[in-house]
Amino acid sequence: MVNTLVMELLLFLIILSSGLSQTVPDITTNDINTDDLKLARLDPVAVGHEQTLQLKTGKTVTIKTAAVHPPLFEIENFLDDSECEHIKSIAEKKNKWKESVTLPKDSFRTGKEEGTHKLIDFQTADKNKDNFVDFLEFWYARPPVQNAMITIEDIPEFVQLYNYDVDGDEKLTKEEFDQIDVKLIYEWTYKKMELDMKKQGRISNQVWVTHESDQFLIELKERVASLTGLPLRLINAAEPMQVVHYGVGGHYHAHFDSETINKDRGCIHTRQIDGVEGHVPLDYKKYRLCRYATLMYYLADVDEGGETAFPIADNATTSEEVLFAGGYLGDLSNHCKDANLVVKPKKGKAVLWYNHKLNEDGWIGDKDVYSFHGGCDIIKGIKWIANHWLTVDTEKERQIRYMEFWEKSYGGVVPQPPVEQQQEGQQQQDEQQQEEEQQPGTDTLLHHEEL
Ligand code: OGA
Ligand code: CA
Ligand code: FE2
Repeated sequence: MVNTLVMELLLFLIILSSGLSQTVPDITTNDINTDDLKLARLDPVAVGHEQTLQLKTGKTVTIKTAAVHPPLFEIENFLDDSECEHIKSIAEKKNKWKESVTLPKDSFRTGKEEGTHKLIDFQTADKNKDNFVDFLEFWYARPPVQNAMITIEDIPEFVQLYNYDVDGDEKLTKEEFDQIDVKLIYEWTYKKMELDMKKQGRISNQVWVTHESDQFLIELKERVASLTGLPLRLINAAEPMQVVHYGVGGHYHAHFDSETINKDRGCIHTRQIDGVEGHVPLDYKKYRLCRYATLMYYLADVDEGGETAFPIADNATTSEEVLFAGGYLGDLSNHCKDANLVVKPKKGKAVLWYNHKLNEDGWIGDKDVYSFHGGCDIIKGIKWIANHWLTVDTEKERQIRYMEFWEKSYGGVVPQPPVEQQQEGQQQQDEQQQEEEQQPGTDTLLHHEEL
């Protein structure tokens, strides 16, 4: 297995170096033979399988398979104690924590949003055409509320509160359904979010850290390249590190770190080759996240709770419709224990998983729905993690051009962290997020961000 990785890596490097040694600013696909380019990926073999790997950086690690779908691995002591402390201190020093504000702003409550979202009509809501809208059908029919975690389990409360189910048979006739005032859905949801932090999609603080600003983080990239078998130049050109801090009650309901291929929206991490500056803010209308893999580090032990849950990892194959129906599996405040897999935080442990399947040509393919995951409530203590996202453009040529760009811009120099631009763009970003369509898990799918 390792041999194949090494072969792939070599092939990758040979092809890239032959194709990219000429420094052409507008390098086109014609200049490179990209046909044989493949992305390395660790083979999970089976749950519980352990492989020991001597990294090129000197460290020997044991990689333990925790799931096959998605391929998911735990690597204990990937970072040592002082390395964890070091990353935390960089984040503290940077001190640009961004709170994940998941309560809707006043402008959202009273603004155009209520007007723009209407409850869909009875015929459409009645999916199974039995002339009733049952509670699950009602859950689907609701307008999305940004960052809210409302599941099928909350619907009876709403229906009873406003006495919409007059005859109490837990399904709504057309007459009952047509009584529903969409404004009340918003009001009720906001109230729940205010009263109960579990109803908020995410409660955490995060800060972006540029690898190039720190010698250890630069070296860490080589460790990661050696672990994953991905070329160093790909790791180099990946996103900055995101350090996340959670207190008691903090959590991050289940979500996807990446998005499926969509020709209308390019990958965000390579956007600088279009002349668009910086890494944040994320413009969701134009761009999507393309995170081939997530490498997540636990920087501290958590006294109690704070597990990373994968509700449907290694689930027997069933339709997405069934898996996400009612949304409750993504509610990690109430259903952490129901997840198919929970990973326990442990200082220095790394968790690696692939958010995408591979295409037949060995390049990044569709999002892997089994990668659905999040962080459970912290019951006692605090939780520190760092996300090291391994980004790959679904368009091979763009990924190559971006690595070229990165090397020209940052190779050997210390780039300015892009995080300063956050504030300006934030309002625009919020507005865009509110317009996002409903996705499984949270009412508006949280990718990773609060960028
Ligand atoms: C994330 C994430 C899980 C955790 O930050 O994207 O999924 O355990 N975190 O904190
Ligand atoms: Ca029905
Ligand atoms: Fe995540």
